[in-house]
Amino acid sequence: MRKDLIIHEAPKSPISEAIRTLRTSITYKMSKNNYKSFLITSSSTEDGKSLIISNLAIAFSQSKQKVLIIDSDLRKGRQHDIFKVDNVEGLAQALDNKNINKDNENLDAEVGKYIKQTQIDNVYIIPAGAVPHNPSELFENSQFDLILDNVKNKFDVILFDAPPINIVTDSMILCNKADGVVLVCAIEKTKSEALVETKKKIENMGGNIIGVVVNKMPMDKMKEYAKDYGRYTDNQIIKYDDKKYKIS
Ligand SMILES: Nc1ncnc2c1ncn2[C@@H]1O[C@H](COP(=O)(O)OP(=O)(O)OP(=O)(O)O)[C@@H](O)[C@H]1O
Ligand SMILES: [Mg+2]
Repeated sequence: MRKDLIIHEAPKSPISEAIRTLRTSITYKMSKNNYKSFLITSSSTEDGKSLIISNLAIAFSQSKQKVLIIDSDLRKGRQHDIFKVDNVEGLAQALDNKNINKDNENLDAEVGKYIKQTQIDNVYIIPAGAVPHNPSELFENSQFDLILDNVKNKFDVILFDAPPINIVTDSMILCNKADGVVLVCAIEKTKSEALVETKKKIENMGGNIIGVVVNKMPMDKMKEYAKDYGRYTDNQIIKYDDKKYKIS
């Protein structure tokens, strides 16, 4: 099991507690608005999107929900590595698979080929797959919508791990496919102008931002920062305590 699966390895750590709080906020949105699919993205790289998604998926599984992570980061996807599943065939190959079409009577089986069981009960992933030469174009194929429609009947929660908004266009294409978008920012790294620009881009694409996660928060600065970031409603604080939990 990977060190990134903190909620599994260290369920009592502050990060695990913060992830459970995030699960509660998202569950509220799910029941109030009938939401099921969520895109988790950020302005730039290494803000903690993949780590939050994998732990959030486990948190949902712990509350008896069946979860699917769709690793939509076709360039640098790492969910297969976090959960230790095979990555030869994944989303990139599914988006290019002509048998995924609305007339295929065996669509369940065709889509099912790409869904991998993880070591965690009730957590499944469609890994990113071998890196394609045309990632952005692949998202414009009709397969993505067909896959999403197909898996919506089989899972309680669907989480898309997406690349950073300000780096590549893929996340922008995905914005309006999810019921809700969660924006991650890293404290002392994400610039407020970048966050504002990201918010605009998501909204222009019809994305529905349901909250902001402030990540990599030093414990001693939590209260101070929470006040500053409070203007982004529905935010949740992911605490970073390298004394109690050393992550790397
Ligand atoms: N709250 C946290 N506390 C400590 N380390 C963290 C935290 N969140 C993320 N990290 C670490 O930061 C690094 C980047 O995290 P991650 O890969 O999840 O970011 P990302 O936003 O998905 O990056 P990319 O844009 O490259 O996809 C990883 O080493 C991860 O373990
Ligand atoms: Mg990532």
